[in-house]
Amino acid sequence: MMLHIPEVLTTQEVAAIRQQLDQTDWVDGRATVGEQGARVKRNQQLPEPSAVGRELGEKILQRLIKQPLFLSAAIPYRYVPPLFNRYEGGEHYGFHVDGSIRTIPGTNLNLRTDLSCTLFLCDPEEYDGGELIVSDTYGEHEVKLPAGDMILYPSSSLHKVEPVTRGARVCSFFWVQSMVPDDGRRTMLYELDQNIQKLRAQIGDTSEVLGLTGHYHNLLRQWAQI
Ligand code: NI
Repeated sequence: MMLHIPEVLTTQEVAAIRQQLDQTDWVDGRATVGEQGARVKRNQQLPEPSAVGRELGEKILQRLIKQPLFLSAAIPYRYVPPLFNRYEGGEHYGFHVDGSIRTIPGTNLNLRTDLSCTLFLCDPEEYDGGELIVSDTYGEHEVKLPAGDMILYPSSSLHKVEPVTRGARVCSFFWVQSMVPDDGRRTMLYELDQNIQKLRAQIGDTSEVLGLTGHYHNLLRQWAQI
């Protein structure tokens, strides 16, 4: 499931993050990928580890865990702390699949990348090109969101970033390990949860709504890996 999560950050929060990022030195993005990625990746990233990156990443996660839509869709277990990238002057990232396992920096904890997240830190008018293209069984999906919005998509998808031909595209990106590894099950839980919430808003906590809520939790209990 691909999902657009609007307004993870406010305009003011994006501006503050951009101000800090614009004063920071960037490095070649090929530092953080394997062999296949390095062949197709042409962009810039904040170096790892970076004190600014850690601080801004922490801010982003703090905002994200208050987003009911994100929690409902991702059922998050662990995060790779957010990273930051910038594309300009024709930079791009060809089709690739994100590595399936990542080590959380500074720990010996491994994380299975179930979901990939791209949080836009610039508005679409600031640059040309730079669309995130995610390919799945329904075809190719083009993503270019307002600053502060985020796209969530399965890490198993092939994806790429088109060349940026004007301006600069600045984003944060990171991965989530979900308590529910299977995308199909996660999608069913998300739809069930969303419908229960709408029903609750319409008719209140009737015994039927409580019954469905119990059903949601019993499914989650069966499927969660924690
Ligand atoms: Ni990627």
